[in-house]
Amino acid sequence: MGRSEIGWDATVLTLYPEMFPGPLAASLAGRALADGLWGCRAVNIRDYATDKHRSVDDTPAGGGPGMVLRADVVAAALDANRDETPVLALTPRGRPLTQARVRDLAAGPGVTLLCGRFEGFDERLFASRDVEEVSIGDYVLSGGEMAALVVLDACVRLLPGVMGAAQSGDDESFESGLLEHPHYTRPFLWEGFEIPEVLRSGDHARIAAWRLARSWEDTRLRRPDLCQRHPGAADHPPSGARQKKKEE
Ligand code: 6GU
Repeated sequence: MGRSEIGWDATVLTLYPEMFPGPLAASLAGRALADGLWGCRAVNIRDYATDKHRSVDDTPAGGGPGMVLRADVVAAALDANRDETPVLALTPRGRPLTQARVRDLAAGPGVTLLCGRFEGFDERLFASRDVEEVSIGDYVLSGGEMAALVVLDACVRLLPGVMGAAQSGDDESFESGLLEHPHYTRPFLWEGFEIPEVLRSGDHARIAAWRLARSWEDTRLRRPDLCQRHPGAADHPPSGARQKKKEE
């Protein structure tokens, strides 16, 4: 896959270029890729090795297990493939990726993603180049490639023309800073469970109020960390409705 004609371009620097676009060739992102709304170019870091063994890593200074990606090789790969897009290095040491950052990236010209393997990058890479270290969560992956796919998926779905007109993505989880309310669809009665009455009422004001209340309630229960930093928290005190139900 090469550069997109009109759009948003991803360059991925990796030791496993065959992992791209990978699952992003299917579904919504795949259609958009085929339509030229975005481009995905994978570059093999090993192509920038200089010794006869094409080595990209070496043992950690100070000792210890594993291997470290060489700053000279990774910097050469980066310098040869720089464009106007921001450079993100995928590493569990990075700053957690947020929807706000994703929104900004999607609004720009694209992204350059540096995928780590082994114990990580030689730290001097970050001292010498403008690179933002990003993590996708508090767990450890065997390399940055899966994380890069996650970053790309999160960005691509926000590009103009990628999602259907029905979903702008605006009121989904995290866009409002809260978890999204739960969803239901037919049949009305399934295994003894009914769709909440309010959703069948046709009263759009009541439905909107119920959904907002459930967003707050579920966020408070599941992600109190999100509630605490939300400006509207004081206006949405816990209703206690669901706790009451459990006690019955
Ligand atoms: Cl970006 N890389 C790796 N290897 N592990 C991770 C991660 C990134 N984010 C969370 N865990």
